[in-house]
Amino acid sequence: MSPTGTSDFVVVANRLPVDLEKLPDGSTRWKRSPGGLVTALEPILRSNRGAWVGWPGVPDVEVEPIVEEGLQLHPVPLSSAELSNYYEGFSNATLWPLYHDVVVKPVYDRDWWNTYVEVNRRFAEATAATAAQGATVWVQDYQLQLVPKMLRMLRPDVTIGFFLHIPFPPVELFMQLPWRREIIEGLLGADLIGFHLPGGAENFMYLARNLLGLNTTRASIGTRSRFGEINVGFRSVRVGAFPISIDSSGLDELARSRAVRNRAAEIRRELGNPERIMLGVDRLDYTKGIDIRLRAIRELLEEDRLDPAQNIMVQLATPSRERVEHYVRMRSAIEEQVGRINGEYGQVGHPVVHYLHRPIDRHELIAFFVAADLMLVTPLRDGMNLVAKEYVACRSDLGGALLLSEFTGAAAELRQAYLVNPHDLDGVKNTMIEALTQDREEGRRRMRSLRRQVLAYDVDRWAQSFLSALRNGR
Ligand code: ADP
Ligand code: G6P
Repeated sequence: MSPTGTSDFVVVANRLPVDLEKLPDGSTRWKRSPGGLVTALEPILRSNRGAWVGWPGVPDVEVEPIVEEGLQLHPVPLSSAELSNYYEGFSNATLWPLYHDVVVKPVYDRDWWNTYVEVNRRFAEATAATAAQGATVWVQDYQLQLVPKMLRMLRPDVTIGFFLHIPFPPVELFMQLPWRREIIEGLLGADLIGFHLPGGAENFMYLARNLLGLNTTRASIGTRSRFGEINVGFRSVRVGAFPISIDSSGLDELARSRAVRNRAAEIRRELGNPERIMLGVDRLDYTKGIDIRLRAIRELLEEDRLDPAQNIMVQLATPSRERVEHYVRMRSAIEEQVGRINGEYGQVGHPVVHYLHRPIDRHELIAFFVAADLMLVTPLRDGMNLVAKEYVACRSDLGGALLLSEFTGAAAELRQAYLVNPHDLDGVKNTMIEALTQDREEGRRRMRSLRRQVLAYDVDRWAQSFLSALRNGR
């Protein structure tokens, strides 16, 4: 057994919750990391006073462990070559597209795989050195699927949970992966494996049974209930569905504040007091369907079904994975679409689409949610999509409407949203018009029901349901 550390509760994720930023003068500072995983986990870890093992967001730096507001951060270094093979390569050009229904073609590269194995081992070793005897370790997401098995070999005393933040794909697609057995075996090192939806959990059970020939239960898996079980040697591994969420009451409270309300009104004025504001908020990722909503808007303008003077779109896009080829191409395509719409339908000083390619401060983002009449969430595939839930949490006024792709995990819970099939452009356009012209009472009824769901099932409940299943299983 390897030497133990002192933390009773350890989260392991590819990224730390903060990224190290190198400034032009050579100094460094920490800034919040992008993405839904960090949004969800940060509040939980702060209240649990645990440790977080992860990469500090820049290659080729050795950073000492730091304590930030009671949270112990243990940086795992990555070289530029590792970043390119493990992160940009295997994680984001193999697994990410494969797990998102092959929206773009996954690349299968043996060198990338070898680096993925090496880097997963480094994370497992760093975790083993951080976790106290008998600790609970919670491994996160697709970048670290080999860590559960590696950590179990190093530290059989710890309890290991694993949660996948992205969809687990249909079996037929997963079977493309040359290293499919290794991935399933890696995950089976955990005591509990969590997915957002029962469907993903059941795909995994099928693979354990048919690819590895293990004994498993066969009953259907419920949401936060009726877990599956897989016999692995003398151990039993549980498999469940735990839809992730947000700090709903925290957002609700912030969105009600006078400062946010004032800023929301000011945003409307700055946009020229249009009748309706449409909003998109995403990492700039090809799974998010940003191009689809822009195409829908363009066609509606062409067909005279949207008045460009009265209907304004704001697209806030955080830069993401900027060295991966498909992300580079997608950015150009979106910026071309934005330019084209504005070129054809904008006026000097009054563009139709306002587009910001940078992360937005949290308070400012909330003010945009409060200001928006229609929130456009149109992914081709998304594990959950926290943005949809954030919008709902910010609408205590019961105003606004949520247009939501059926192919998000959130659609399983947010049934009163305006649900669309993003592949059906006419359907998206018609539903946009329906939502933009909704009757006020109908809008309030839908929003009330959405809010009941989002406020009741918050991120605390997600973590508690996962962690109590993990404790009870052992
Ligand atoms: P993903 O995890 O794939 O990025 P989610 O919708 O689940 O997608 O989570 C995205 C998180 O990042 C949300 O908390 C959202 O508020 C935040 N976010 C997305 N775009 C921006 C932006 N332009 N500026 C600031 N935060 C953003
Ligand atoms: C999604 C993934 C996370 C990832 C985040 C941001 O939420 O599930 O694991 O951290 O996107 O992506 P990045 O590649 O910048 O870490």
